[in-house]
Amino acid sequence: MKGLILAGGIGSPAWLRSMAAMPLGLTAGSVGRGVSCADSGAPLSQPASSSARVTGIVSDERDKTGSNAMWGGRFAAGPSAIMREINASIPFDKALWREDIAGSRAHAAMLGVQGIISGADAAVIDAGLARIAEEYERDGVSEDWDLEDIHMTTESRLTALIGAAAGRLHTARSRNDQVATDFRLWVRAACERAEAGLEALQRALVTRAGEHAATIMPGFTHLQTAQPVTLGHHLLAYYEMARRDRSRFADARARMDECPLGSAALAGTGFPIDRDATAQALGFARPTANSLDAVSDRDFALDYLSAAAQCALHLSRLAEELIVWASQPFGFVCLPDALSTGSSIMPQKKNPDAAELVRGHSGRITGALVSLMVTMKGLPLAYSKDMQDDKPPVFEAAGLLDLSLAAMAGMIADSTFDTARMRASADAGFATATDLADWLVREAGVPFREAHHITGAAVRLAESRGVALDRLPLADLQAIDARINERVFAALSVESSVAARASYGGTAPVRVGEQVKAARLSLGMDD
Ligand code: ARG
Repeated sequence: MKGLILAGGIGSPAWLRSMAAMPLGLTAGSVGRGVSCADSGAPLSQPASSSARVTGIVSDERDKTGSNAMWGGRFAAGPSAIMREINASIPFDKALWREDIAGSRAHAAMLGVQGIISGADAAVIDAGLARIAEEYERDGVSEDWDLEDIHMTTESRLTALIGAAAGRLHTARSRNDQVATDFRLWVRAACERAEAGLEALQRALVTRAGEHAATIMPGFTHLQTAQPVTLGHHLLAYYEMARRDRSRFADARARMDECPLGSAALAGTGFPIDRDATAQALGFARPTANSLDAVSDRDFALDYLSAAAQCALHLSRLAEELIVWASQPFGFVCLPDALSTGSSIMPQKKNPDAAELVRGHSGRITGALVSLMVTMKGLPLAYSKDMQDDKPPVFEAAGLLDLSLAAMAGMIADSTFDTARMRASADAGFATATDLADWLVREAGVPFREAHHITGAAVRLAESRGVALDRLPLADLQAIDARINERVFAALSVESSVAARASYGGTAPVRVGEQVKAARLSLGMDD
């Protein structure tokens, strides 16, 4: 099966792992985001509604004594268990570990070059971070809620590995610019994955459109047979949508290509950092220009999500068509076994589950966009903790979109179209009625509105006889309008109908062939 391998890259398998371990929403026995006890190892055994549990948490011995190692200096007591749980983003932001380590390594190297920390410290920090990356790769990232997030988890591990020098890494930065940088890197890679997924879909569409440039099927409006079209033309309609979707992701990616690192908490830093160097090291085009904006901006994630929602919406329309076409009354397409499921009770069933899930996922992806928009609405500058909630919707949407694109490319590449059935259906629905009207306009000089009425009468007659338009005897047509002659029959076949629609962008096989050629060229398929 072509097109079913998810493009690799930062975050994809990690996303699947972390999301699988994270039931979203409240679950019994858990408060906050609903991180399950099993995943976190935290001893939460009472339901959230139990007052005993709540009291127990607040009076937890550990809470009174253990203040947070990273920011606990001004605190007399540590956070309650509820605070630890509501605060912890590690269950989901551990998906950012690669970006976090890349950002830290770039920052440490820059601090060393600028003489803000010693070269020796920079080297030992770098080696420690490289080792942590190996550990994460091998063992995954552990979830300790006391360490809140991926940034503190990594710093804590670095301290364990290299000692006091680890404490110099956070010079001239804050978690605010750190997370903004990590997340941008992750979302930028998600844009690239979406672009690659769309390209695979485009290739499948163009290949199948080339095979079916002259395959005739009914074209619909209101899902009623309207005019004959070619299957190639229909598939290329989705090629055009995919082309625009790809450009939306490329556009979003270009716009987010600025590095927030060095914006520090909100105001910049007094240390002589080199922001161009860190931006360049992380592959960004330039540093962001305003530190307040840089730590507060989540437009880049919203840009991604709106491109994703638009793309998912297109995929859901294509999915819906495949579902309808695969149904027995239509019978236009046989979906690949590999992307279908059976029924546990009805042995004859082959269900288009992958297409239905693509259609369903579009709802969740749109939900992710709305979720983050509402989270961001009304937040004052600069960072607020609400913004920690930016990640789950993006991770969820990206995982769903990557899968949807792969599933759809596979369905298009490996479906079998029943061209005889499509043709018969195009013949059956008076699809060439407009051709009769056009013929009267062209050959007999009849005004189109009058031609429309004449044709309506012919359709009524054909329907009452149960025959196609071009099966009506000439005498009967002439009884409806004397200006009709035998030459009309040449215009009434579905072949002549599609061939006639040769305006630029029209359904005629010749035009579809040209569009396929242009598309193949732009995708580099013929090199
Ligand atoms: N975990 C936080 C997030 O995802 C990191 C930033 C924390 N910054 C802060 N000022 N508390 O947003």
